[in-house]
Amino acid sequence: LFLNHFFFYFKPKITITIDGWSSCGKSTLAKQLAKVLGYVYIDSGAMYRAITLYFLRNHIDWTDEKEVTEALNNISIEFHYNDVSQQSEIYLNGENVEYVIRDLVIAEKVSDVAAIESVRSFAVAQQQKLGMYKGIVMDGRDIGTTVFPDAELKIFMTADTAVRVERRFKELYAKNPNITIEEVKNNLEMRDYIDSNRKISPLRKAEDAIEIDNTNLSMEEQLRKAIDLAEKKLKRLA
Ligand code: DC
Repeated sequence: LFLNHFFFYFKPKITITIDGWSSCGKSTLAKQLAKVLGYVYIDSGAMYRAITLYFLRNHIDWTDEKEVTEALNNISIEFHYNDVSQQSEIYLNGENVEYVIRDLVIAEKVSDVAAIESVRSFAVAQQQKLGMYKGIVMDGRDIGTTVFPDAELKIFMTADTAVRVERRFKELYAKNPNITIEEVKNNLEMRDYIDSNRKISPLRKAEDAIEIDNTNLSMEEQLRKAIDLAEKKLKRLA
């Protein structure tokens, strides 16, 4: 009994990373998994999107290193939990930008911005700070390779391109009926290319990552798989 109590109060917590291609459902899985485990969920892509939003709004020439460094000094990024949407939302200099950063205008530029060395070290430092106490699920492109190379559980997600395009199209079309499937497909393929070919921390499956291909999986099935993986790791620690 004592031991049970001990583990209830001092339950070991792990770090879970979810990396993979654009629009393969990383954030959906990460959010659900965090909820089940009572962990914090952090969307690292939102950080690169918020930085891109700042650069666009303030006409920052991101090919100019000095301008980028100065701009980063003026950027503060925070995540706050929203009780209504029941998720953590991103704030750029005090403004909730969770929804504006999902726009295709941002998606078209974010991979270029995310390839800049100073932008990456700025974002990675904050991501590592957020994960200091474990009990976190973070999704992105380099979380298992660069941000938390020692994470206890690393998941790498894939899905067929056609399925990914379809899913993202539905999501964007709901907000903007002028959008075409070609635009969405082009953006997805371009981001996959840039994200996996950039010099610093390109998208890679970490050697110890477990792959989940969700082309033919329902959301419930993929969540079940992830929970099983997490439980196995936690059991080993207990
Ligand atoms: O996950 P997302 O689609 O919101 O990410 C937007 C972009 O940010 C993605 O195309 C590449 C970049 N990104 C990154 O370089 N590293 C991460 N850890 C997360 C995102």
